[in-house]
Amino acid sequence: MLVAVAVLATAGVAAASNGGFAPVAPNSPNASRTDTAYYVILAFTGAIFVLVESLLVAFVWKYRSRGRARTVEGAQVHGHTRLELIWTVIPVIILCVIGLVVFYELPGISSAPAAADPLHVTVEGHQFYWQFDYPNGARSINDLHAPVGQVVDLDVVSPDVIHSWWIPALGGKIQAIPGRTNHFWFKADKQGTYTGQCAELCGLYHAKMEARVIVETSAQYKRFVTSAAAPQVLGKAEFQGVCATCHGMQGQGGYGPNLSTNPLLTQPAGLEAIVRTGRGLMPAVGDTWTKAQMQALVQYAKAHVYKGAASGG
Ligand code: CUA
Repeated sequence: MLVAVAVLATAGVAAASNGGFAPVAPNSPNASRTDTAYYVILAFTGAIFVLVESLLVAFVWKYRSRGRARTVEGAQVHGHTRLELIWTVIPVIILCVIGLVVFYELPGISSAPAAADPLHVTVEGHQFYWQFDYPNGARSINDLHAPVGQVVDLDVVSPDVIHSWWIPALGGKIQAIPGRTNHFWFKADKQGTYTGQCAELCGLYHAKMEARVIVETSAQYKRFVTSAAAPQVLGKAEFQGVCATCHGMQGQGGYGPNLSTNPLLTQPAGLEAIVRTGRGLMPAVGDTWTKAQMQALVQYAKAHVYKGAASGG
């Protein structure tokens, strides 16, 4: 009993402070519905846990040996129809209630509410970054910008392996599967930055596949999508969001080799070839990149990463 109480108290504190046990506070209707289902199930399972553990402890105490010899048979109990009916019917009712709640909540989780002006964004999971395509042709890396209060429809795709898009405050997970387009949506109820993480083990740098959804006013969003295509902005986002994961923020090297002294950075054709097709352990990070995107990277790498060929090498 003491253990049960201690466990529940710990879980309660953890849930209250959101120490990883409870879902994060929802900021999208689909996330709210998932949350509701979670707490309904938690209420039943919590109550059953307390009941079963209390009875277990009570019976252990009540039927303790009291110094009887180990060979003495205990009292023999045979069927009790009423009790057996009760412990069959109650679980059936509980399962029905849980089923009803889940089926009631499901449509509002999987389908976006009808909206006059949904924003369509393509989310591409990629070893090891997220790329977003906006209706005006702009692209961004790792940071998805979205206007507050608007339905955002996501087409989730992957050109390489399976990833999983997951921003907990904005709904559940959806897999990005090669050769398939999955659909997801959210409607953020307030401005802010919502963080998430690729939720499918997708390779060496799976853990670095963090994503952020930046929810802003519609004017801020419009300003972002018009400026995102500027080569300086795009090139920087690409280098810092894609190359730097393995090669370091200044191209100084890390898991991948040092780039800052590699003359390849000044050779557009050579750089494009390796970025598009990969080499050795390096994935084909830029296999879906546009020409403009490639040029933006070339410009950025030459201007901000390349420090001149290593001397004496
Ligand atoms: Cu992508 Cu894990």
